[in-house]
Amino acid sequence: MNDSQTLAEHVLQGLRAKQKALSSAWFYDDEGSRLFQRIMAMPEYYLTRLEHSLLRERAQELAQWISPNRTPLDLIELGSGDGEKTLSLCRTLADQNVDCVYRPMDISAHALAELSRRFESDLPSMALEPTLGDYFEHWPQVPAGRRSVAMLLGSNLGNFDDVSAVRLLRRIHTQLRPDDILVLGLDLKKDPHVLQAAYDDAQGITAQFNINLLRRLNRELGMDFDLERFRHFASYCPLEGVARSFLVSQVEQVVSSSVLSQTFNFSAGESIFTEQSQKYTLQSIERLANNSGFRSIHVLTDPRQWYSMSIWHRVGQRA
Ligand code: AVJ
Repeated sequence: MNDSQTLAEHVLQGLRAKQKALSSAWFYDDEGSRLFQRIMAMPEYYLTRLEHSLLRERAQELAQWISPNRTPLDLIELGSGDGEKTLSLCRTLADQNVDCVYRPMDISAHALAELSRRFESDLPSMALEPTLGDYFEHWPQVPAGRRSVAMLLGSNLGNFDDVSAVRLLRRIHTQLRPDDILVLGLDLKKDPHVLQAAYDDAQGITAQFNINLLRRLNRELGMDFDLERFRHFASYCPLEGVARSFLVSQVEQVVSSSVLSQTFNFSAGESIFTEQSQKYTLQSIERLANNSGFRSIHVLTDPRQWYSMSIWHRVGQRA
């Protein structure tokens, strides 16, 4: 996700910086993906449930916007995971006899295998063309004359700061043709208590998810992080509309890596910045569209306006 930097390069740069930082893009090893599945099932983490209900309950409305008059389409999902949420939409498209090829992309072979199994058993009529890989480096070839509908769900865009988000959206823009569509699932600003709880849950699953990054570094870079001596800290800032997560060193300590042949010093209370999750307003989403060469044509939200799914049209020329 980080312009194909390796984990070693990333950690070297991130832990040498004045404010130590590691990217959440590295959270998703097998254990991290399992923990994220548990996060999605937590009572505090409303995002997945709301997005899933929009995909289930408003699938017809969505289908009409992405495939007016049953336009043949290629549904390109960036970071599909196991495809559970998208199955509802695909089912509706199939019911309406839309000629659709579903092209899920994910960096997890495990997730794509699960997705293939799910579609095989629940919707075998759907044409399925999975791609294993990073959507920065790969983009599926779509035959001319078909409309591409790219989908970036789960508020995954929120992990990028504003500049990187626009960069990613413009990259998607260059892959699409005029009149193609981008569907974006984005989390909305709301009561800070609700957001705070979503990123610092009572059971401590999010804490484990964050700490798991250090376990990964221990395994893959021969590091010796003592997992008991770092603590998860998450904080939502209503001014910026960002939830940020950190790992805080509980004592002064030195951590070394046999692979990097390096040591890293931590003072007591020093933090590693590990994740940001941007929250949006309907206006800020519209601005994002305009800044990256798209026009928002339709937005679905739940009655409380906690979560949104936007349908963007790729405009003719690059913005
Ligand atoms: C998968 C990036 C959307 O930011 O809400 C969940 C990841 N981090 N809890 C998010 C996450 C902590 C999630 N995204």
